[in-house]
Amino acid sequence: MKKKLFINGEWIESEQYADLFSPYTEEKIAEIPLASEKQVDAAIDAAYNNREVMAKLTAYEKAEILEKLVDLLKENRVKAAQIIAMESSKPLKFSLGEVDRTIETYKFAAEEAKRIHGEMIPLDAAKNGADRLGYTLREPIGVVAAITPFNFPMNLVAHKVGPAIAAGNTIVLKPASQTPLSAYFLAELLEAAGLPKGTFNLVTGSGRKVGDRLVTSDKVSMVTFTGSPEVGIGIRNKAGLKKVALELGSNAGLIIDDKVHIDKIVPKCVTGAFSNQGQVCISLQRIYIHENLFEAFTAKFKEETEKLVLGDPLDENTDVSSLISRKEQDRAKAWIDEAAKEGAQIISGGVIENNILLPTVIVGAEPHLKVSCQEVFAPIVTINSIKNVEEGIDYINDSKYGLQAGIFTKDIHTAMNASKRLEVGGVMINDIPTYRVDQMPYGGVKESGNAREGLKYTIEEMTEMKLVVWNQEQY
Ligand code: SIN
Repeated sequence: MKKKLFINGEWIESEQYADLFSPYTEEKIAEIPLASEKQVDAAIDAAYNNREVMAKLTAYEKAEILEKLVDLLKENRVKAAQIIAMESSKPLKFSLGEVDRTIETYKFAAEEAKRIHGEMIPLDAAKNGADRLGYTLREPIGVVAAITPFNFPMNLVAHKVGPAIAAGNTIVLKPASQTPLSAYFLAELLEAAGLPKGTFNLVTGSGRKVGDRLVTSDKVSMVTFTGSPEVGIGIRNKAGLKKVALELGSNAGLIIDDKVHIDKIVPKCVTGAFSNQGQVCISLQRIYIHENLFEAFTAKFKEETEKLVLGDPLDENTDVSSLISRKEQDRAKAWIDEAAKEGAQIISGGVIENNILLPTVIVGAEPHLKVSCQEVFAPIVTINSIKNVEEGIDYINDSKYGLQAGIFTKDIHTAMNASKRLEVGGVMINDIPTYRVDQMPYGGVKESGNAREGLKYTIEEMTEMKLVVWNQEQY
C-alpha cells in the first residue's frame, strides 16, 4: 500500500517514502510519502489560494458536505475501524467506538455550520453611542494548519477538520507519523463528499520538517495542535502572531469519597485507566480513595484488571494491545521500575509480554515519581489512600497539568466544593475524568493547553470577529 500526498485536489507521489509498521505485529503495513519542503509549500499555497472558494460556501453547502461525509463514514464504519486498529493498535472494539464518535463529531460540525452568528451590540449604552447600529460577524480565519496525534487518529482529526470546514476555512493536515492511514482515508471521503478542490490538503512526513514549515508560514492563520506540552510550547514560540490552539496532556486524577458504592465505580475506573492502553490525554492515571474504602477498592480493581483480554488489536475480544512503539513501551516500563525502586508496590502488571505492557496497578506511589507527576500515556494507574476529599483535591492540584478531574461522592456540598477548587478545564461529578462527549467544551489549564475543543468552541477559535457600526445620521 503505497500512499500519495493529497495537494490541491491531486494525489501526488513523493521522492521519499518511509515504511509504516504495525505496532503489534511489527510487520510492514504501508509506505508513507515524506513530503519535501516544496510539497508542503504547495499544500499551503493550495489552501491559501482557495480561501475565497471556501469562505463563499453558504452554511447550507458546508453542512451538506459534512453530512455527506457522515453518510460515507457510516457506510465504511468497519473499514475505518480496521484502519485505526491496524496502524495504532487500538483494539477493534475501541476503534469502532472511535469511528462512532467521529461520525457524531462531523454531525455536530454540520449542525454548528448553520449556527455561526454574531450579536447585536447596544452601542447607545455609551454616552457617545446614540443613533448607531452595531453588530458583529464571524468570518473564516483563513488557512488552518492541523497537527494531530496518534491516539485518536480519526476523531481528533475530526475535531479540527470538522469545525474548520463549518467555519469556512481551508486546511492543511499533518497527521501523526504512526497514524497517517486514517487521514488518507478521510481525504478520500472528503473528495467523495464534494469538498472543493484544494481546500483540504494532506501532507505526511517528518514532524520537524513539515510541522515547522506549517507553523512558520505567513500564509497560515491558525495552528491547531494536539500532543505533548514540549512540542506545543515549541509551536507557540515559533508561530509569531498566528493563532495557536493547543490541547496537551495531563495526569488526570479521580477522588473517591467515603460511603460510595465501589462495585459500580471499579469497572468504570478500569476502563478509564486502560482503554487504548492508557494513551488518552484524560486517561485515569491517579486515583485518590478514602481510607475506609481503600483495601476493598484496590482488591476489586486488581481483580477486574486481571480479567482484561490482551492481544491482537484486530481481534474483537481484545481489551489491551501494544503501545504505539517499542520506545514508548520501554519508557513506560522504566517509569514503573523507578516507582518500584522507590518503594511503591506494583500489585498487578509491570511486565511486558508478547509486545504488550500489562495493565499496571501501583499502590503507594509518592507524588514526585514519574508515574504520579508526569503524563504516563501507558496502561499504568496509581491508587493512593486519602483521609478526606480536601487531601485528594490538594494532590490533584499539585500537578503541572489541569485537563479534567473526577469525583465520586454522595455529598452535594463536597461535590460543589470540589468543582470550585479543582484546577482543571473540566470537573466530572460522579464520573471518571476520562468522560468526554464530542460537543462539550474540552481543554485544559496550566500545561494542559490554552484553548477549548468541542465544535461550537473550536469554531469560535477558528473565526475572526468583525464589528460593523452604522451611523444612522444621513450625509
Ligand atoms: C485526548 O486524548 O485528548 C482525547 C480524549 C478523547 O477524545 O476521549
